[in-house]
Amino acid sequence: MKALVYHGPGKRSLDERPMPTIVDAGDVIVRITRTTICGTDLHILKGDVPSCEPGRILGHEGVGIVHETGPAVATFKPGDPVLISCITSCGQCEYCRRGMYSHCTTGGWILGCRIDGTQAEYVRIPHAQTSLYPIPAGMDAEALVMLSDILPTGFECGVLNGKVEPGCTVAIVGAGPIGLAALLSAQFYSPAQIIMIDRDANRLDVAQRFGATHCIDSNVDDPVLSVMKLTDNVGVDCVIEAVGVPETFELCEALVAPGGTIANVGVHGVTASLHLERLWDRNITITTRLVDTVSTPRLLKIVRSGKLDPKQMITHRFKLAQIESAYDTFSRAADTHALKVLIEA
Ligand SMILES: NC(=O)c1ccc[n+]([C@@H]2O[C@H](COP(=O)([O-])OP(=O)(O)OC[C@H]3O[C@@H](n4cnc5c(N)ncnc54)[C@H](O)[C@@H]3O)[C@@H](O)[C@H]2O)c1
Ligand SMILES: [Zn+2]
Ligand SMILES: [Zn+2]
Repeated sequence: MKALVYHGPGKRSLDERPMPTIVDAGDVIVRITRTTICGTDLHILKGDVPSCEPGRILGHEGVGIVHETGPAVATFKPGDPVLISCITSCGQCEYCRRGMYSHCTTGGWILGCRIDGTQAEYVRIPHAQTSLYPIPAGMDAEALVMLSDILPTGFECGVLNGKVEPGCTVAIVGAGPIGLAALLSAQFYSPAQIIMIDRDANRLDVAQRFGATHCIDSNVDDPVLSVMKLTDNVGVDCVIEAVGVPETFELCEALVAPGGTIANVGVHGVTASLHLERLWDRNITITTRLVDTVSTPRLLKIVRSGKLDPKQMITHRFKLAQIESAYDTFSRAADTHALKVLIEA
C-alpha cells in the first residue's frame, strides 16, 4: 500500500509499505477514505517529537471503512464507516476510567507517532472498540475528519477547560485550525465577546466569518491595549492559548481578568515565564490538557444536528498520491491560506 513515511528530521516520502495486519485481538484494520495533515505532523518533521522514530507512517486523523476485525472486536464489522480518534484508549485502565484517555497506559497519542498512522491506504487501530466511532448513516464523512483531533482539542482543552459560559468574555490567541475550532465551539455557550488575536490577516478574516466578535492583528495593534479597551480595562474571563510559544502564553497572562482562566492548548517546547508577581492576587486558574477526545460523541451529535459545520475548515483537497504537494501547501499556510487540507484515497 501507499503510505507517507517519516525518515528523520526534514525527510518524508510517499513509499510502498506492506498492509498492516491484526496484531492484538482488539485491533481493527481500517481502509482510509479521507485523512488530513496536522500542525503536529510538521512538528514531527522538524524533529521536535523524539518519540516518533524514522520509518513511522504519519497521521492521526481520518475516516474510513472497517476492513478486518480482531477476534475480540464485537462492536464493528467489515464495511462499517468509522471515525478514527487521534487518541487511542483501552477503556479499562485507571486513566481511561476517569475519562483521561490521553493518558491511557497502553494508548494515548500513539497513532502516527509511536505506531503507524493514518496517512496511508490502511491503518491498524488498537483498542478499536474504544478508539473508533461509528459514523451514523447519512453523515458527511469529510466534515468528520475535523472530529479526529482539532474540534475535540479546541473544545476540551480550550472551551471546556476555559470555563466558557453565557455572557462571559473570551480571547483566543492563535487563529490556526485549533484556535478556530475553539472559536466555533465556544459559540455553543453564547459568550458576550470572542476576541481573536493573530498576526496573519487572512486567518483573522476567516475568524471573522466564523463568528469572532473582534479580531486583533498583533502586527498592527497592541493586543493588550486593544483587549483592555474592549473589556472596560478588566481583561477577559477566559483566554485560550492556541499557539505554543512563550510570547503568546505571556500575552495570555496579561489578558486574563481577575477570577478568569488561562486555558493552554499550545504545545510548548521551551520555558514560558509565569508572572506570579502580577498574578498572585488575581484569583485566576491556569489549565493544561492533552486532548482526551471524550467529547467526540457529543461533537458528532452537534455536527449531525447541523449546528456546527466543520467542513468550512477545509481549504484544499488532494489525492493520497499527491500527499507530498499537500504537505508543501500546508506547511506554507501563510502564502497558500491553507487551514485543513483534505486527502482522499
Ligand atoms: N493540547 C493538545 O492536545 C493539542 C492538540 C493539537 C494541537 N495542539 C497545539 O495547538 C497549537 C495550535 O495548533 P494549530 O494547528 O492551530 O497551529 P498553527 O501553527 O496552524 O496556528 C498557530 C497560529 O498562531 C499564530 N501565531 C504564531 N505566533 C503568533 C504570535 N506571536 N502572536 C499571535 N499569533 C501568532 C499563527 O499565525 C497561526 O495562525 C499548536 O501548538 C499545536 O501543537 C495541542
Ligand atoms: Zn493533530
Ligand atoms: Zn486506558
